[in-house]
Amino acid sequence: MINKVVLVTGANSGIGLALCERLLGSQDAEGLHLCLACRNMRRAHAARSALLGAHPAAQVTLLQMDTSSISSVLSAARELQLRFNRLDYVYLNAGIMPNPQFDLKAFFRGLFSSSVITMFATGEGILTQKDGVTPDGLQEVFATNLFGHFLLGLYSSVICPGFVMTNLTYGILPSFPAFLWTLLMPLLWLIRVFTNTFTLTPYNGAEALVWLFNQKPERLDPRAKYHSLTSVLGHSYTQPRQMDVDLDTSQALYDKLLRLEREAKRKPIAS
Ligand SMILES: NC(=O)c1ccc[n+]([C@@H]2O[C@H](COP(=O)([O-])OP(=O)(O)OC[C@H]3O[C@@H](n4cnc5c(N)ncnc54)[C@H](OP(=O)(O)O)[C@@H]3O)[C@@H](O)[C@H]2O)c1
Repeated sequence: MINKVVLVTGANSGIGLALCERLLGSQDAEGLHLCLACRNMRRAHAARSALLGAHPAAQVTLLQMDTSSISSVLSAARELQLRFNRLDYVYLNAGIMPNPQFDLKAFFRGLFSSSVITMFATGEGILTQKDGVTPDGLQEVFATNLFGHFLLGLYSSVICPGFVMTNLTYGILPSFPAFLWTLLMPLLWLIRVFTNTFTLTPYNGAEALVWLFNQKPERLDPRAKYHSLTSVLGHSYTQPRQMDVDLDTSQALYDKLLRLEREAKRKPIAS
């Protein structure tokens, strides 16, 4: 019997997959139906097999959804309506950071400045990315991380997983061999003494997502970002922090997104 249907976009690796594992391992797992919405179905099948390997009785299905493509999102949304008569939780997790570049000079400058902790906590100033344009004519990061999800027509809470070692972050230094990352790990753990945003593992990074699972939506603060944080001793917890955005700016962005959505939905959908 299905009690709750949970959809996770970008669920085939990293934080999305860790969230699925944590939900299936929780006391609320009974009657849970997990739907993994992924662009890469080969990896999606592998993720499903891994989840079922650990939780053989779990209900896990797959849905093809490329959040960077308007037509893919709209057809996935129609498919969802056909498949489920309920959708209890939707995790808008899919995201990219294309061609990330690590600015070594900025890193050393930051290391000896007063903003050293902010630099480690947010990556501000040391990370840049090279964005492309999708066949729909949108910036790739905007389309994948934001607009594809916006098209699903949901109000959502914002979370920040912290700095997590996943395919996304390993991509910052692609030529860095795996054993060097392993050697670096104790140093990264040490940085937790100064900033609890170094959650590092996908399990810890998924903390705020798991926390949200147990909250009543009406009690959530729409202007808060819910952060996954990890203490020096490795204890994970969730903390809300007010987002630094004023109401006029957020309303203007929302209006623009609605206009873009109307335009996108007017265009014929490629099959
Ligand atoms: N790791 C961090 O430190 C960090 C920090 C802040 C925010 N985040 C955010 O956390 C989320 C999860 O990232 P992660 O760190 O777990 O990285 P990850 O392991 O690379 O996972 C990203 C997931 O998104 C999927 N995805 C990418 N583009 C997609 C598309 N067009 N359509 C559907 N799925 C797509 C990927 O699937 P494919 O296999 O198809 O590529 C993958 O499953 C992202 O939104 C990211 O921006 C991460």
